[in-house]
Amino acid sequence: MSIIEAIDAKRDGRENSEAELRSLASGAADGSIPDYQLAAWLMAAYLNGLSPRETADLTLAMAASGERLDLTGLPKPWVDKHSTGGVGDKTTLVVLPILAACGLTMVKMSGRGLGITGGTIDKLDSVEGFRTDLSPEEMKGQAARIGLALTGQTPRLAPADKALYALRDVTGTVASVPLITASILSKKIAGGAETVVLDVKCGSGAFMRTLNEAQALAASLVSVGELAGLAVRSVVTDMDQPLGRCVGNALEVREAWETLAPGGEYGPATARFRELCLQLAGIALEAVGKGGLAEAVDALESGAAFAKATEWFVDQGADPAAILAAGWQQAPARADVKANRPGWIARVDARQIGEAAVSLGAGRRTKADEIDPRVGIECLAPVGSGVAAGQAVLRVHARDDQSAQRAALDLTRAVEVVDGEVFASPVLLA
Ligand code: URA
Repeated sequence: MSIIEAIDAKRDGRENSEAELRSLASGAADGSIPDYQLAAWLMAAYLNGLSPRETADLTLAMAASGERLDLTGLPKPWVDKHSTGGVGDKTTLVVLPILAACGLTMVKMSGRGLGITGGTIDKLDSVEGFRTDLSPEEMKGQAARIGLALTGQTPRLAPADKALYALRDVTGTVASVPLITASILSKKIAGGAETVVLDVKCGSGAFMRTLNEAQALAASLVSVGELAGLAVRSVVTDMDQPLGRCVGNALEVREAWETLAPGGEYGPATARFRELCLQLAGIALEAVGKGGLAEAVDALESGAAFAKATEWFVDQGADPAAILAAGWQQAPARADVKANRPGWIARVDARQIGEAAVSLGAGRRTKADEIDPRVGIECLAPVGSGVAAGQAVLRVHARDDQSAQRAALDLTRAVEVVDGEVFASPVLLA
């Protein structure tokens, strides 16, 4: 098969055969197809779509582009969770230890930031010593010891996704139902889990902006996942405002840690994040026949999840005490965005905040961009909060005063204050 024929077919709106998709996935994985041809195919697939049959074939081809982790010997159930990506989405850092504390075996491969959405691996890279390059053998060994292991995309598991994911991030080809489906599920299949909980984000800070689009993605993930033999649960969750208080790598790790710490104090934005973590954990527990939400709440409130997270960070090479220490990964400059009038917060625009975070250095615009772990934005007043005139509603953390001031100025458009009382939408939409 020639890659040019596969590109021509997709460009002209025709279907690619299973053999073409297999060659595309293996060529992406071994580097034999150059980036410019992969990028051309991705754009054609983005514009013309893939049929359900092509999506399933691409998913299986990407999963088969490397090894499949064999979890035999580890206690069941083998569970994984995944989010389609949002602004401020750090749920993995809380949900994994909750579920491992409840006795589930959690083995997860996570990604880097994609577009304006952050990636778990970029967040964890802000923690000194935390290893995000575990080999499949190390993953299995660690999961056997503590019930939980997480790694970045290794060249050995679903390598086609690693190559395509990095290209999609910088070629405007992220927000495609078939490409997201194949990307997520190829990693889940290669990671060896049997049950997968998928959090499909919906709103201005997500790839799927409307409920219809998000539900279409959820349906595609469930049907292709089931074809591949996985038990899949999916939920659609709100991403019109950032999830939680913090957006930015180290800021988000710290917020996750504060959420895990028993008896910790948190405001309404973090409470919304905490609620979503508990709901996702509850769905996973229910899916495997355990105690659902009540068991998840107990694991978090008893401190069992915090103890598990501590074990996890230590096992992967980090000192978790550093995260809560004063001054940890603190950016040198700050600037606040203030409410220009008294009233109620009606909008905290996740897209604008995600874009501002990338401009500050929390995400990438090209494959080679370096992340600054310290920068980001704190959302001090979530939708529905009452505010006084002059009250700080966003806090920018930046590398220098000039970029802090510039971001704060841009972000005045991201927050809307109105006269009448506002009620935030529920975090779980469908
Ligand atoms: N998460 C993934 O792993 N892949 C995507 O394409 C989008 C979100």
